[in-house]
Amino acid sequence: MAKTFYVTTPIYYVNDAPHIGHAYTTVAGDVLTRWHRLRGDDVFYLTGTDEHGQKILRTAEANQSDPGQWCDRLVESAWKPLWRELDIANDDFIRTTEPRHTERVQRFLQGLMDKGFIYEGKYEGLYCVGCEEFKLEGDLLEGNCKIHSKPVERLSETNYFFKLSAFVKPLLEHYRKNPEACSPDSARNEVISFLEGGVQDLSISRSTFSWGIPVPWDKSQVVYVWFDALLNYATAVGLGEPSDSPLGKMFAKTWPADVHLVGRDILRFHAVIWPAMLMAAGLEVPKKVFAHGWLLVGGEKMSKSKLTGIAPSQITSHFGLDAFRYYFLRAIPFGSDGSFSWEDMSARYTSELANDFGNLASRAAAMIEKYCDGKIPEVDRDESLATSLAETVKIADAAFGRLDFQSGILAVMEFCKRINGYLTEREPWAIAKDANRIGEVAKILYNTAESLRALAILLYPVMPGSCEKLWISIGGRELGELSSQRLGNVALWGQLKPGSIVTKGEALFPRLEEK
Ligand code: MSP
Repeated sequence: MAKTFYVTTPIYYVNDAPHIGHAYTTVAGDVLTRWHRLRGDDVFYLTGTDEHGQKILRTAEANQSDPGQWCDRLVESAWKPLWRELDIANDDFIRTTEPRHTERVQRFLQGLMDKGFIYEGKYEGLYCVGCEEFKLEGDLLEGNCKIHSKPVERLSETNYFFKLSAFVKPLLEHYRKNPEACSPDSARNEVISFLEGGVQDLSISRSTFSWGIPVPWDKSQVVYVWFDALLNYATAVGLGEPSDSPLGKMFAKTWPADVHLVGRDILRFHAVIWPAMLMAAGLEVPKKVFAHGWLLVGGEKMSKSKLTGIAPSQITSHFGLDAFRYYFLRAIPFGSDGSFSWEDMSARYTSELANDFGNLASRAAAMIEKYCDGKIPEVDRDESLATSLAETVKIADAAFGRLDFQSGILAVMEFCKRINGYLTEREPWAIAKDANRIGEVAKILYNTAESLRALAILLYPVMPGSCEKLWISIGGRELGELSSQRLGNVALWGQLKPGSIVTKGEALFPRLEEK
């Protein structure tokens, strides 16, 4: 039974509407998912919302709302619609308030209790509600949480504790043996030095409020929101269900997760606490936790709480959806921080999308209309283009495979430039002036169209809408749906069928001033 390739995003807090930082992770996961589908993998892509804890509770209260109703409203009016608008192909959307999640969390917790990994103790210390995280003095800057720039709160509670410290050695061993399990290298180094610095047991329940999952053996406590939230990755695919049930079978096929995508703010939760919880339960740990960088505003992490969040619609309404999906992954190395700049996005839109890609597509279609009766000409093979395509596929696949989106996209865009260069060099429009040489023109245009076929397939994971338009424009439908094309066949030259109708549709990326 082939394992399902399982990709997740963090589940987002629904204290507010999403901004482009959240969209950055979800688009990256979507591109990865679509790339693996292109490879022919069976993929499961999960996203969702994190709805318990004090942060949500306080936000709901401040808005005179019941927390459950608050979450329902935001999930339905802001989060789910955004993922639809951004063309996100997630297979499931989990909410931590759903019974399928809460029941499985309770069963998991009871299992750890029965195994002796949980004990009762007193927690005295600091807490940041913004991060929903227990803090040490060293985590603060002048008494404030470094991420939220807000004062932390002092807690003193009797709680249940998870024996996290027992997993320091197994975790260090795990990362030593499987360095790819935490990427990029800077993230793994951070995790290793954190583990080497010593880790305390973790309070995993709270007693002073009730917006959470009740601890199964003590209803006066609710499960700590992170302990609850991390489990979503496993509860969504059937954690703890009988192995012969449909969900149990799904779990066997899907678990462990292949990639947990997270922002670097929540790396430790995913690379320390989460695998320790799984180890305690005797389950496999995720194959990879990838911590990407932050989108910055004024040098700081963009965030709603600091009023620096930019809504995705502010960008998509100007540049269009596909340019949005393209820009961040193309401009910022995944794993590094980056700033959003309107100027940089405009410049890349114009030079890479409108000129290099969009113009090529419309010029090719216009010339095929003009010189070839609007039909794909006879098959021809330009050896150097075919070789360059085969190399492009190899480079891009290796890059996407290691989540180096920037290099993957760049490789494909270099191929796009290569075709532009081919046309500039061959000048079919000039040759066409000589009626005896029209056969040469047809050959050049076949090679151009064939290159565009490959571009439509290779860029489809990043820009599904525009590539679909291109696919239709070059008569790709004769080869089946774009989504059913496979990477293994992309570089087989000569697939477009002579005689297929080519149509010059609207510009894929209209000039910005025309919008
Ligand atoms: N609810 C937790 C995650 C639980 S996962 C078991 C949480 N939620 S969050 O709403 O704060 O979203 C955090 C994630 O959103 C980050 O890890 C990152 O993926 C994304 N981003 C939020 N702001 C971001 C930036 N400014 N830049 C890049 N990504 C950002 O933490």
